[in-house]
Amino acid sequence: TQSLRLGVAGLGTVGTSVVRMIARRAEALAAAAGRPVQVTAVSARDRGRDRGLDLAGIAWFDDPVALARSGEVDAVVELIGGAEGAARATVEAALAAGKHVVTANKALLARHGAALARMAEEAGVGLAFEASAAGGIPVVKTLREALAGNAVSRVYGILNGTCNYILSRMELEGLTFEACLKDAQALGYAEADPTFDVEGFDTAHKLAVLTSLAFGTQIDADGITVEGISAIAPLDLRMADELGYRIKLLGVAEATPAGIEQRVHPTMVPKSSAIAQVMGVTNAVTIDTDALRELTLIGPGAGGEATASAVVADIADVAAGRVGPAFGRPADGLKRLPRAEMQRHEGGYYIRLT
Ligand code: NDP
Ligand code: HSE
Repeated sequence: TQSLRLGVAGLGTVGTSVVRMIARRAEALAAAAGRPVQVTAVSARDRGRDRGLDLAGIAWFDDPVALARSGEVDAVVELIGGAEGAARATVEAALAAGKHVVTANKALLARHGAALARMAEEAGVGLAFEASAAGGIPVVKTLREALAGNAVSRVYGILNGTCNYILSRMELEGLTFEACLKDAQALGYAEADPTFDVEGFDTAHKLAVLTSLAFGTQIDADGITVEGISAIAPLDLRMADELGYRIKLLGVAEATPAGIEQRVHPTMVPKSSAIAQVMGVTNAVTIDTDALRELTLIGPGAGGEATASAVVADIADVAAGRVGPAFGRPADGLKRLPRAEMQRHEGGYYIRLT
């Protein structure tokens, strides 16, 4: 059987981990995919940088769009980041050339996911994005495949590792917001622009992915009410603690009689609740459905290895030809509520926990 020839665009925290994991797990990956998988091309900005990778025999491209169009590549793994620029151009070029795309880029999906999914469907190729929501937690597969028989009424959770890491260390170790953010950046958890993390936009992007999968709506982050954690002070955490609560940044998508509400905000959760126990870079996603009532997935939400785990699972799927429609869940006839109709939640820090 012919191997799947991969082009990896972006060799930062996630890209380097993916290249290493493919080498380390070559045999298991070939077994899962039904054929060998081989990295034949890579792209990043700085060719001279030592990334601790053996790139002998692998073609280098300064331009990731040229990588996407290269005849040496059957599928493109986009790990550059950002909703526009090189990442968008690379994904579009790959789909236009009829190549599978695997991406971890929730910012891109939240803005252009619907159009990209159409391009993929027209080309008959896969657009796979397990790593785009909740890092290493296989929540995309869970929503798209494992829960096909369920009607989902709510999805919520801790979707940003950086924010949960910051809040946890501020609370438990009394460190400053700035010191915790710096550590999260050094550990490779934060976005290139950490404003996306701390102001809640990254959580909103992930929530947009989950909402679309859970409710069959068109992906769009525009309608989401967003408040981040940059205004949370040590005093807020202490007061919450005295009242028996922890503060968590939650993304919530909920079916209401009027439509689907989507919001991101710091939330007081009782210390006795399961979600309050989720500390550090760990993420948690709870899915309420008619058949299962409540399903919670907990696991590492950011970092190179955890994210590579999800990317490599997608690579196995596209290599095996397991490529359904990107957001493939039939609409349940629900609409997303526009932001204006969710004003009553502005500043509201409440969630109903079972
Ligand atoms: P990094 O900033 O560590 O890496 C980005 C890579 O893209 C770098 O190798 C950089 O090159 C390369 N790059 C940037 N611009 C260009 C360009 N114009 N042409 C070619 N290459 C370019 O990001 P991460 O690895 O952290 O994140 C990658 C993606 O994964 C993002 O979409 C992010 O949101 C997502 N993600 C990240 C997670 C994490 O924990 N870090 C978790 C889940 C998703 P160079 O190295 O030369 O500068
Ligand atoms: N910056 C993101 C986070 C990376 O901290 O959760 C994972 O998507």
